[in-house]
Amino acid sequence: MKRLLNQLHVPLQFERTDHTFWQEPHIADQLLEAHLNSDAEGASRSFEFIDKSIDFIQLAALQKPYQKVLDLGCGPGLYCERLAKKGYTVTGIDFSENSIRYAKEQAIKQGLDIEYRCGNYMDLNESNRYDLALLIYCDYGALAPADRSKLLFNIWNSLKNGGMLLLDVFSQYKFDQFKEEQYWSLHENGGFWSRDSYAAIVRNLKYPNRVTLEQTTVVTEEKIATYNIWHQFFTAESLIEEVSAAGFIVKGIYNDVSGEAGTEESQTIAIWLEKQK
Ligand SMILES: C[S@@+](CC[C@H](N)C(=O)[O-])C[C@H]1O[C@@H](n2cnc3c(N)ncnc32)[C@H](O)[C@@H]1O
Repeated sequence: MKRLLNQLHVPLQFERTDHTFWQEPHIADQLLEAHLNSDAEGASRSFEFIDKSIDFIQLAALQKPYQKVLDLGCGPGLYCERLAKKGYTVTGIDFSENSIRYAKEQAIKQGLDIEYRCGNYMDLNESNRYDLALLIYCDYGALAPADRSKLLFNIWNSLKNGGMLLLDVFSQYKFDQFKEEQYWSLHENGGFWSRDSYAAIVRNLKYPNRVTLEQTTVVTEEKIATYNIWHQFFTAESLIEEVSAAGFIVKGIYNDVSGEAGTEESQTIAIWLEKQK
């Protein structure tokens, strides 16, 4: 009981636990299925949306058809494969062994020459190598402020002069819709969070400065594990201010990475950034 109560303290903003959502093997299996199910938008967006995003990326990168692309948090390679088929030279990084194993198998099956690396993109340490970097499906806002600025710095270094970065974040509009709630549920035959039977205690909280926590504490016979999923939401202004401080030039701002624009009621904001020539 003491251990459980200990896990249930209200964390400080972006406080981490020992458990990483994307990498825990049982959860990673469920997430891979979610990535590959075009109807479930939990891990990747629908294939129709991804196809539209590829067209949008290609339009922005049209001048140099054989560009070197870096996809950060590439998952099972849904963007990498499509870009490789269009002729780009693609590197994908993800720390999910499951997703990278699947991505590599698919590349071999389809005869695609894609460099997949299983690793943490926070450790990116390359310079002057890529023309285009992608950080897609709101991963950026899942990072604490210090990690966001470190990642932007590392991406900046990895890009050639004039190189571009496309990233998306969740919007103020979505933050306003976020509901604070707490509940628990019982899963006698196992489920998303564990293969074994478990109880899940969920706590969704809003913090100051447009930050949310989606916390799930999973209690099984053997262990108690807490997963904290954080999100920083942005307005266009706050996003522009943050990325400009990292030295990027804003080249365009959209509702999403497929290039939709013009509605205030968008769940996301996408931004094209350039490393100054
Ligand atoms: C929301 S999914 C998006 C996947 C892909 N970009 C897409 O849109 O289909 C986030 C991905 O980023 C990966 N990821 C999260 N944090 C990471 C990190 N620090 N280093 C490497 N990969 C990471 C996860 O494993 C997951 O595959």
